Amino acid sequence: MTRKPEELRSWRWFAPDTLRGFGHRSRLKQMGFRREDFTGRPVIAIVNTWSEINPCHLHLRERAEMVKRGVWQAGGFPVEIPAFSITEMYMKPSPMLYRNLLAMDTEESLRSLPVDGAVLLGGCDKTTPGLLMGAISMDLPAIYLPAGPMLRGNWNGQPLGSGSDGWKFWAERCAGNITADDWNAVEDGIARSPGFCMVMGTASTMTALAEALGMTLPGASSIPAADANHARMALNCGTRIVDMVWDNWKPSRILRRESFENAITVDMAIGGSTNAMIHLIAMAGRRGIDLPLSEFDRISRSVPVLADIRPSGRFLMEDFYYAGGLTALMSEIRDLLHLDCATVNGQTLGENIATARIHNTEVIRARANPLFAHGGTTVLYGSLAPDGAVIKSSAADPRLLKHTGPAVVFEDFNDMDARIDRDDLDVTPDSVLVLKNAGPLGGPGMPEWGMLPIPRKLLLDGVRDMVRVSDARMSGTAYGTCVLHVSPESWVGGPLALVRDGDPVSLDVAAGRLDLLVSPDEIERRRAHWNRPARRYERGYMALYAERVTQAHRGCDFDFLSGAAPIPEPEIH
Ligand code: FES
Repeated sequence: MTRKPEELRSWRWFAPDTLRGFGHRSRLKQMGFRREDFTGRPVIAIVNTWSEINPCHLHLRERAEMVKRGVWQAGGFPVEIPAFSITEMYMKPSPMLYRNLLAMDTEESLRSLPVDGAVLLGGCDKTTPGLLMGAISMDLPAIYLPAGPMLRGNWNGQPLGSGSDGWKFWAERCAGNITADDWNAVEDGIARSPGFCMVMGTASTMTALAEALGMTLPGASSIPAADANHARMALNCGTRIVDMVWDNWKPSRILRRESFENAITVDMAIGGSTNAMIHLIAMAGRRGIDLPLSEFDRISRSVPVLADIRPSGRFLMEDFYYAGGLTALMSEIRDLLHLDCATVNGQTLGENIATARIHNTEVIRARANPLFAHGGTTVLYGSLAPDGAVIKSSAADPRLLKHTGPAVVFEDFNDMDARIDRDDLDVTPDSVLVLKNAGPLGGPGMPEWGMLPIPRKLLLDGVRDMVRVSDARMSGTAYGTCVLHVSPESWVGGPLALVRDGDPVSLDVAAGRLDLLVSPDEIERRRAHWNRPARRYERGYMALYAERVTQAHRGCDFDFLSGAAPIPEPEIH
């Protein structure tokens, strides 16, 4: 123990023999606690994103109780605090709009309340970065407890993966290859336990990266939500956070540039979601660390994809856990990691993975037999994306990774929705589908529209992949040759705004290029006639968002939330 009780943050609320101190103590006594329960003990906030409309977090009320048990056992005082629950499935127009709101909620709850440390409970896509961004900015000792993936889906004895198989079987239904009864049975079997999407989507990616950053206990990100080991992991978080408070073991002592490089390396080795790039840039920004897209590209070129998990591979997260989970995967790429980086358990990353082993090399490949020789994500630059774009190359049809074709342009989602399946749409398998106004401001919130549907008439001809380009994001569960996050976005006048039907668009993943093959003179002529869309929000959170959000290559954080400038502790009067 390195700190004294008087040095605890909560001491300022509970210890003083003042009228305010009296008020703070008396209201906890109102709830049945004794003065000795909370005075001079680490007060631990269990920041819980449980909600009845968030199926991924269905079990987090029970897990919070386990965390509390651990906190009590270690001599702390737990308080469960609800946080804004971003539910990927239901929140419209895009849950990405609200990641920064959760980050603010987390940071300001921790700042304004008498707490000394936090255990953060989340998992559904945006909740991991949202909770961590807030905790990093507040910089109190904090552990992240990932909600864990669902068990495998099941239909007629075959495993189903969240999202990925929804897309796949919907295409088959549109093509008339499965019946309505089949489709309903898939609906019954695709989500059959608590937990988040069990493919290597954004949720599994971000929780893995939280572990790679050192912000979870070892192995925490891979445990299925329904597994009893998950409940025990919750207990362990509760006991460990109390020691972390005494040691003042806070994010600024754990997270450094090398921690984020580790996270990028792991992102590539797991074939992680493209969304991770935006979130990692934003999280690093909260420590004042600049992570340019070029870092992802550099690391991607030297890291093999080892996780054979859908949508890039064959298996699901439950299989990943049984194969040894993330610690086993990291042990296989230990030479590519900064092993001296600190983690929440007080040990280094290298110490945490020292004894980890792969139990199934089908699921977690050996270095000698990777799923892909290079990282699953490629950064693209070019005349169509001066500030960058990304493609999940591991989930694309290799045939299309070098392709030039005429653009079929949709001005926005509604335009696409109205025309994509029309028989008179002038489209061939070689066309490049282009969607505008789906970026941070255009969507708004960069909705996951980047996997544009294949036009029905091509689906019926057996086409299953085409080159698609947008300023949108794509679900981590999705797949296909989809160029995403084109920056600057079309809403603010990026070159994407100027693409017209028939323009040749060139994609060359190996060269890292995305180009609009139209003369600069013609582009300038078009720009002269382009008008920025009218402002949509006059008040409310959306107005704040529209005014302060940054572009995709800057992480879509609010400009005033980024950086590591200190904020004074609240005065207590
Ligand atoms: Fe929550 Fe997929 S809906 S992770």
